[in-house]
Amino acid sequence: MKNVTVVLGGFYGDEGKGKVIDYLSGDNQYAVRFSGGNNAGHSVEVNGNKFAFHLLPSGILYDNVKAVLGNGVVIDPKVLIEEINSLKEKGYKVDNLYISEKAHVIMPYHIILDGVLEENRTEGNKIGTTKRGIGPTYCDKYERSGIRMEDFIGKNFKNILKENIKNKNTILRAYKKDRLKFNEIYKEYKEYAKILKPYVCDTITMLHKAIKKDEKILCEGAQAALLDIDFGSYPFVTSSNPTVGGAITGTGIGAKYIGEVYGVIKAYSSRVGAGPFVTELLDETGDKIRELGHEYGVTTKRPRRCGWLDMVAISYVCMINGLTGLCVNHLDTIGKFDKIKMCVAYEYNGKKTTDFTTNVEFLSKAMPVYEEYDGNFGDISKCRSFDELPINAQKYINRIEELTSTKVKFIGVGPSREEIIVR
Ligand code: GDP
Ligand code: IMO
Ligand code: MG
Repeated sequence: MKNVTVVLGGFYGDEGKGKVIDYLSGDNQYAVRFSGGNNAGHSVEVNGNKFAFHLLPSGILYDNVKAVLGNGVVIDPKVLIEEINSLKEKGYKVDNLYISEKAHVIMPYHIILDGVLEENRTEGNKIGTTKRGIGPTYCDKYERSGIRMEDFIGKNFKNILKENIKNKNTILRAYKKDRLKFNEIYKEYKEYAKILKPYVCDTITMLHKAIKKDEKILCEGAQAALLDIDFGSYPFVTSSNPTVGGAITGTGIGAKYIGEVYGVIKAYSSRVGAGPFVTELLDETGDKIRELGHEYGVTTKRPRRCGWLDMVAISYVCMINGLTGLCVNHLDTIGKFDKIKMCVAYEYNGKKTTDFTTNVEFLSKAMPVYEEYDGNFGDISKCRSFDELPINAQKYINRIEELTSTKVKFIGVGPSREEIIVR
């Protein structure tokens, strides 16, 4: 019984996970977010309607799919309520949402601290976080002073909040920031708790009952492998595990139930925020990728840094996650170039290597070794099978498979739900 499929970001985020999850969700009974919070921005396009999900699982658009926020997620109640309301305004019922009682709550002081910490980092050390309070919330979780959903909606909320505000005020005083006012925060957040209470439940038991009934579960990764706190380009990473292990600890589903683990990449590379990026193009070609791919953040609207595809990094991502398949999005976008480059090795200290490590000094000095491919794929947005793709596009995909020893099972040829080739 391997009814659980995991979908992960295969680079530095924004690979088009939302689109793939939405596409795959229809065949599943559950869609589960397992890590991160509203630092994520997942785009879904259905029949010309565009959605941007930050916290809600991208599978929520299907009535028959139960959308779950797992225990590994950190939740800003205000943002979640806004997202629920905006979906309701569009005519969706949202009564298929379930929130883990063990998920941690992002409080206003986490957001303030995220900003303060970033402000105090000197130039060159700034991470470029989304300032959504993600890091400080995970810090509190591991420091054991966090507020879980069950605390938030329970009788003890007042006490825990008081204790937290006392401690955070000590820290904020050191940074010469305004004092937090307990009464104001309690009054506001008590109301949010009331609104979210009906959605909160024991999602671990719920998912295991589903597994016993042979139902299918899709785990939706946020962020990406190279932003992983353990396996990414530390310290320029997020504060969770968006890799395959996170799907286990962030849901309570055991490894033996996981069948497919898909990694989503684009046919080129992008990154937002600071940190090394070996194939980054700081020239007109990088600008052209950004414009053709509409590479501006869904969450922060920041322009994304762009470059050619980095197969050294992607082979590492396949390795650490044990990927069973890849999804390559934006083949249509890269096909607009006459010539396309693919990085197949690095040159470091005068030597060629295909071994990837996230050591920041190594990545800052490594130089990409490129192969060149013919582009000009023409309009491929209507292609629905691999054979319909022009030979140049097929060669590009074949080379990705060869370098990663991983099958490319999905190919994105446009942003909407149906613009996908399944193999
Ligand atoms: P996510 O965070 O991984 O879900 O990705 P984002 O939604 O942040 O960014 C991906 C962007 O690429 C979105 O604007 C999608 O609509 C778009 N997109 C996804 N797949 C494709 C594709 O195959 N072709 C094109 N042209 N756009 C795509
Ligand atoms: P999706 O799910 C791209 C980046 C931030 C920053 C670093 C740490 O849409 O792919 P954080 O706020 O998490 O503490 O910021 O991680 N980052 C993302 N980049 N896509 C995301 O999510 C990201 N989530 C966080 O830009 O560099
Ligand atoms: Mg995104």
